[in-house]
Amino acid sequence: MNHNIVILGSQWGDEGKGKIVDFLTDKANAVVRFQGGHNAGHTLVINGEVTKLRLIPSGILHDGVMSFIGNGVVVSLEALSSEMNELLARGVPVFDRLRISEACPIVLPVHVALDNAREAALGDQKIGTTKRGIGPAYEDKVARRAIRIGDLRAPQNLKQKLKTLLNLHNFTLKEYYKVEDQFDVEETYQQLLEYAKTILPMINDVSAELNAIRKKGGKIIFEGAQGTLLDIDHGTYPYVTSSNTISGTVASGAGFGPCYLDAVIGITKAYTTRVGSGAYPTELDDEVGEHLGVKGCEFGTVTGRKRRTGWLDLVALRRAIEINSITSICLTKLDVLDGLKELKVCVAYELDGEQVEYPPYDNADYVRCTPVYEVLSGWEGESVFDKRKWNDLPAAARSYVGFVEKKLGISVDIVSTGPERSQNVIVKDVF
Ligand code: GDP
Ligand code: IMO
Ligand code: MG
Repeated sequence: MNHNIVILGSQWGDEGKGKIVDFLTDKANAVVRFQGGHNAGHTLVINGEVTKLRLIPSGILHDGVMSFIGNGVVVSLEALSSEMNELLARGVPVFDRLRISEACPIVLPVHVALDNAREAALGDQKIGTTKRGIGPAYEDKVARRAIRIGDLRAPQNLKQKLKTLLNLHNFTLKEYYKVEDQFDVEETYQQLLEYAKTILPMINDVSAELNAIRKKGGKIIFEGAQGTLLDIDHGTYPYVTSSNTISGTVASGAGFGPCYLDAVIGITKAYTTRVGSGAYPTELDDEVGEHLGVKGCEFGTVTGRKRRTGWLDLVALRRAIEINSITSICLTKLDVLDGLKELKVCVAYELDGEQVEYPPYDNADYVRCTPVYEVLSGWEGESVFDKRKWNDLPAAARSYVGFVEKKLGISVDIVSTGPERSQNVIVKDVF
């Protein structure tokens, strides 16, 4: 039996992690975010009611389950407060269910200004960030000058740290980026103290709490944000996010050692999408791409941007399986392929006349890769939508799943057949 599992994105994000985490929370005692920030947008649909989460773990709607924000997450207090208020207004007892690590770096308004200034300066080389200040906040963490949630407890030191930080960033904004935005120490300080009143009662030692649950034999889900190909080291650098998104980050981002993990579930869309710039060999710029975007409602949860769409990419997935030690796949949005006559799956790339089986690390090489496809038949006229049993899936859909399993040498344990919590075919229990 599995106790501690990681659920993460194996592609470029938006694979449906939130839906699956919420569904599996039924069997868990705790759900933990361990990296990223409010650049994430995780959508849950329960009896038609939509919940969009950015920072708060996707287990928050479950009674008797604790949600944790681990130290690896960068936290905007403004975003956290507004998300909490939305949930509180709907009667979700957030104060009882949520705990936050005091070691989380805080995303400040100045980080958002820096994110915007950098993107503008890059022009058509821009990353296409969510403009939430995530990159600059992680930079401050690594530079050892971040304001952390625990700093809210010592107002005098907080003010001094803030002064040093804002002096530096105000200078950069004005002198280097030539933008007008300047951030006042006193004003930012007062805002932080105001948020501190609601946030401080929820802070604790997340690592110790998680290990206490583990020792009692509880079950924990670690919920990834973004996706493997957006990882700062293994993704399509520099077109990536600023955190490590892979399973190894659970140890550093939540204080939960790797040998305590029992399984890693790779949430994998039955096709692919990407928001923002960067290499994307299987991208489609035709009516099939349009079909995937429209039928899959592929618009960003955070920014509302249209997601780029393409065929399933087994080369990228091969890398994701190995660097995350993915133990099984959950294939989502298979219903979005309903209505397509034929389905292409990328099984290798061609680069300079040679076949390659792993994504290159250099984005300049990656953009030159062309996909090698195998073509499978679709299930035109039949539908995957809302199916709950393996044998109720059209035969061609079962073949599609089987093809993925065979090519990658991994099992697909869950097939998601619609956005609702309950719309799944469970092939094997992951706990
Ligand atoms: P996340 O960031 O990985 O949690 O994914 P998002 O929530 O950003 O994007 C996934 C979108 O697809 C959301 O709108 C979900 O409601 C929706 N979704 C999830 N699973 C399925 C599925 O199996 N079928 C369909 N049609 N929609 C799904
Ligand atoms: P979830 O958790 C998809 C992308 C941005 C951009 C790059 C860097 O919902 O899957 P950032 O703001 O992080 O500096 O932007 O990463 N990105 C995501 N794409 N899903 C996400 O989260 C993403 N979070 C960031 O579009 O290309
Ligand atoms: Mg998302």
